[in-house]
Amino acid sequence: MKIAIIGTGRVAAALGKGWAGRGHMVTFASRQPGSEKVAALVDAAGPNAAAARVRDAVARSSTVVLAVPFGAVRETLARAGDLSGKVLIDCTNPIAPGLRPLFDSTTSGAEQIAGWAAGARVVKAFNTTGAENMAAPAYPGGAATMLLCGDEEMAKAAVWQLAEELGFEPVDAGPLSAARHLENLALLWIHLAQVNGLGRGIAFRLLRR
Ligand SMILES: NC(=O)c1ccc[n+]([C@@H]2O[C@H](COP(=O)([O-])OP(=O)(O)OC[C@H]3O[C@@H](n4cnc5c(N)ncnc54)[C@H](OP(=O)(O)O)[C@@H]3O)[C@@H](O)[C@H]2O)c1
Repeated sequence: MKIAIIGTGRVAAALGKGWAGRGHMVTFASRQPGSEKVAALVDAAGPNAAAARVRDAVARSSTVVLAVPFGAVRETLARAGDLSGKVLIDCTNPIAPGLRPLFDSTTSGAEQIAGWAAGARVVKAFNTTGAENMAAPAYPGGAATMLLCGDEEMAKAAVWQLAEELGFEPVDAGPLSAARHLENLALLWIHLAQVNGLGRGIAFRLLRR
């Protein structure tokens, strides 16, 4: 799969290294693709990785990952060019000061993004756990769960596979409107890890009988 990862921070590095290491062609899309920081990331991700400006990375990829701060999403989408037909994986978390949701319960960041990114096949995923877990989802009790949601089955199937390849147990949470719950779950993860003192070595796992 040809994957553009927009952002070169913690989430981008974990996902990009993981997928490049499993044979996908990963382009890190950066505002400064020629910087030393980005060169080091490409180097660490191995021979299947490259870096490019956002528009070029998106143009050469069928799957695009949004791994930027939520506040930078609109300017990032404006840089991205035509996203129609592309799977757009939204990893962002729209968080207001005080660890509160930025939106009320009638919408979500992912639904806003679907409105902004005309024609993109938006899937919410990789937002409910820390970047460390994206690099290493295996726990003694089993694989961490990766919840995903979206309105298009084929796009969700592609993201399901990408999550499984990293070692997660993917769980389909339903339509894109379920992103409201995924974004709230992210707040709970951050609260537990960073406010309540459990640390970042924690992950959610769905149990079944
Ligand atoms: N960190 C986590 O554990 C975690 C877990 C789940 C979800 N998330 C969500 O995933 C997204 C990325 O998180 P992260 O921790 O990877 O962030 P980060 O380490 O701060 O990296 C964000 C990246 O976004 C790019 N960017 C583009 N426009 C930007 C702007 N105006 N200001 C700052 N950066 C900008 C930057 O890449 P260039 O400078 O190369 O363009 C930067 O490397 C966020 O929405 C976050 O809420 C984070």
